[in-house]
Amino acid sequence: KVLILDFGSQYTQLIGRRVRELNIFSEIKPYNKLPQDLSEYNAVILSGSPLSVRGDDAVHPDLSEIRGKKPLLGVCYGAQYLAHFHGGSVEKSNTREYGRANLSFIKENEPFFDKVSTGSQVWMSHADTIKHLPENTTLLASTHDVENAAFKFIGEETYAIQFHPEVYHSKDGKQVLENFLVNIAGMEQTWTPDAFVDKTVAELKEKIGDEKVILGLSGGVDSSVAAVLLHKAIGKNLHCIFVNNGLLRKNEFTDVLKQYEGMGLNVKGVDASARFLDDLAGESDPETKRKTIGRVFIEVFDDESHLVENAKWLAQGTIYPDVIESVSATGGPSQTIKSHHNVGGLPDFMKLKVVEPLKMLFKDEVRRVGASLGIDKALLGRHPFPGPGLAIRILGDITPEKVAILQEVDAIFIDGLKKWDLYDKVWQAGAMLLPVNSVGVMGDERTYEKCVALRAVESTDGMTADWVNLPYEFLQKTSNDIINKVPGVNRVVYDISSKPPATIEWE
Ligand code: XMP
Repeated sequence: KVLILDFGSQYTQLIGRRVRELNIFSEIKPYNKLPQDLSEYNAVILSGSPLSVRGDDAVHPDLSEIRGKKPLLGVCYGAQYLAHFHGGSVEKSNTREYGRANLSFIKENEPFFDKVSTGSQVWMSHADTIKHLPENTTLLASTHDVENAAFKFIGEETYAIQFHPEVYHSKDGKQVLENFLVNIAGMEQTWTPDAFVDKTVAELKEKIGDEKVILGLSGGVDSSVAAVLLHKAIGKNLHCIFVNNGLLRKNEFTDVLKQYEGMGLNVKGVDASARFLDDLAGESDPETKRKTIGRVFIEVFDDESHLVENAKWLAQGTIYPDVIESVSATGGPSQTIKSHHNVGGLPDFMKLKVVEPLKMLFKDEVRRVGASLGIDKALLGRHPFPGPGLAIRILGDITPEKVAILQEVDAIFIDGLKKWDLYDKVWQAGAMLLPVNSVGVMGDERTYEKCVALRAVESTDGMTADWVNLPYEFLQKTSNDIINKVPGVNRVVYDISSKPPATIEWE
């Protein structure tokens, strides 16, 4: 596998993804947490960084166990690191070097640039430039503005590139990474979803043996894929719990439960709607609503896990972005469940050993693993849905009547998206029930009823998002359907705010 040392670049995760797209496994570690055992890694990549090697705060970890001993590739800051701390010189560049550039020179017969021709577009993003190369190096490529765009150390497999091969705009970036990892480091491209499934199932069998595992299913992609993977490894010893918090979508509890049963999972549906709604009654503050739901969930889950005798493990659908320890987000891997810890009063299920089979996967990889496990496409393509469910889409206090109204509205909107073939083009969609009544007229009657807002966004990770330009005809039809079919609603609006500055959910 490949070790990617993160120096804090915003693109570090992308390097990881590109490498995995080549069917080679990669792991990202902060530059200051070099793994003790390097024998597992076949190659190392140094990421970019917002820092300058010339600054007082420049980071330069000791790479003596790596350089010259394993194939090493420095990208951007990584390249400047290899130049600056090994006898070359790095200076502030006179011209800004951001964005598109083209390779104007590539050394001939160089395996690192196999299948890459001069003129190839690369993406630059740096304020410093490598002025002089260290001794014992060969120049491999230049652009019009950046002479030392790529170089290698003679007699060792150490390469350095100033451009970012991981970004989409570097047209041959993936080819360059492949050349480095396959031609130079001699790695095999065998890390496929099928291989992941086989290996993980074998590991889970070994790790868990005959012990029992509890897993909370949410209806979402991650927990479902984790469940199927574990089921394949340990069968009936996996006990899944699917809690209805009364804030799910229309018919979701029964539909999803049926689907899980159809997949052969040993799943218990627990309808705790009343318990959640009772505890939420009269509460309008978004954060308090979230906390109440979190607390009641833990109570319900704790009760349920007691019913599974002799359970030893708690399985979670944690994925890689949740645990990545990046330089920008030090503070360590986050296990969501830990944020609920309170001294002296740990629920029993938290004393279980934790198993997280998807911990090393990105979301799209989880989907591919799911497909390789034969999980239904519709389930794998489901939009994200927040844990607190409709509670944070009902602005203000929550009542069973409001939940019922919003479930109907949401169902019309989501079914419509599917019918119009728009569902898969949207990253997330939903409806908000606003705490406003407005005047309308139906027939000859004056109405004074609720307003709902529809929201559909495109995004890759939910961190930033933009509203989707849904066809007017679709919005027109959906609005009509909602007002005609859902008593209590007389007005529909469409949310055209991006994130930032708005957020996806209204609460
Ligand atoms: P925001 O509203 O912060 O949402 O732009 C970003 C993504 O996170 C989801 N979300 C939540 N998920 N518990 C969750 O499990 C929450 O409290 C929560 N709040 C927001 C939201 O649906 C979107 O996908």
